[in-house]
Amino acid sequence: TQPPLVLGIETSCDETGVALYGERGLLADALYSQIDMHAEYGGVVPELASRDHVRKLIPLIKQCFANASVTSRELSGVAYTSGPGLVGALFAGASVARSLAYAWDIPSIGVHHMEGHLLAPMLETTPPSFPFVALLVSGGHTQLIKVNQIGDYQLLGESLDDAAGEAFDKTAKLLNLGYPGGPALAACAKNGNPERFNFPRPMTNRPGLDFSFSGLKTFALTTSQQHALDEQTCADIARAFEDAVADTLAIKCKRALTQTGLSTLVVAGGVSANQRLRKTLDQMAKEISAKVFYPRHEFCTDNGAMIAYAGYQRLLAGEFDELSIKARPRWPL
Ligand code: KG4
Ligand code: ZN
Repeated sequence: TQPPLVLGIETSCDETGVALYGERGLLADALYSQIDMHAEYGGVVPELASRDHVRKLIPLIKQCFANASVTSRELSGVAYTSGPGLVGALFAGASVARSLAYAWDIPSIGVHHMEGHLLAPMLETTPPSFPFVALLVSGGHTQLIKVNQIGDYQLLGESLDDAAGEAFDKTAKLLNLGYPGGPALAACAKNGNPERFNFPRPMTNRPGLDFSFSGLKTFALTTSQQHALDEQTCADIARAFEDAVADTLAIKCKRALTQTGLSTLVVAGGVSANQRLRKTLDQMAKEISAKVFYPRHEFCTDNGAMIAYAGYQRLLAGEFDELSIKARPRWPL
């Protein structure tokens, strides 16, 4: 039999991601971002997202095969994101993945989007070893998870309201920084004075590992209403917001590491691209002699590589889909 090789497909939101992962590692990875299209509307338009996934999937799959110089005959499985995410977008990826697997007579497997994110650092040359604490910070989730092994996850804490990325996006919107908000706010915060405003660090002065970020957005709104919103004030608010999010996440990560007795932290999801957050977490880890692992920049946000990797591991463990096509807009890890 030939060595295992898996095609991965990601379509949960506004990025169409395709990749090939096999015994020799990551062989190809292609991404089409719909960001420019959605930017016109100030956010993701679900119907437009689904249509674009349908349009882009086959060209991206062809591109991956060409780049890796492999053919469909060498494939041993197809993995796709089956949730959580936008239901129409998920169905676009699931239908293509399941149809191709059927035509090629190989198994397919639905992968949890957040499992993909949390395994993304495994694609690096020095991957973390199990067990570790994972901080997942994306547009839809903020979670602390104890990862014992692939497939063995224990939720330690999560956001009770807005996800960290959502808070970035909403705060960026009220500061008129455009979409997507995270990178825009981070760029603006670069010129900000960290001493001018002091935002709260929500839920840090009581025990537990849950988060709450909606208050920070409100704090940003109130602060912006109390001052003339010139360029400098905007940057100062952005910096104060970013510092508050980074500090809050670092305090809870430190608590999670202490509580579990672990010394490895994995940070993944769109917000893990944030440089301020990385600096703050690296500093915290240094103090307690822990090690932090991040995905490379392009694998922080949604991508096909993390889905191909997670699917490869699951198929190798003997798992595969039943006959019905599944898309789960909500799905606990
Ligand atoms: O993981 P992801 O691509 O999609 C979801 O699964 O949600 O994460 C997207 C989120 C968005 O909220 C975006 O604003 C945020 O990640 N993000 C950032 C940065 N890059 C992306 N937030 C802060 N700083 C960044 N550099
Ligand atoms: Zn994501």
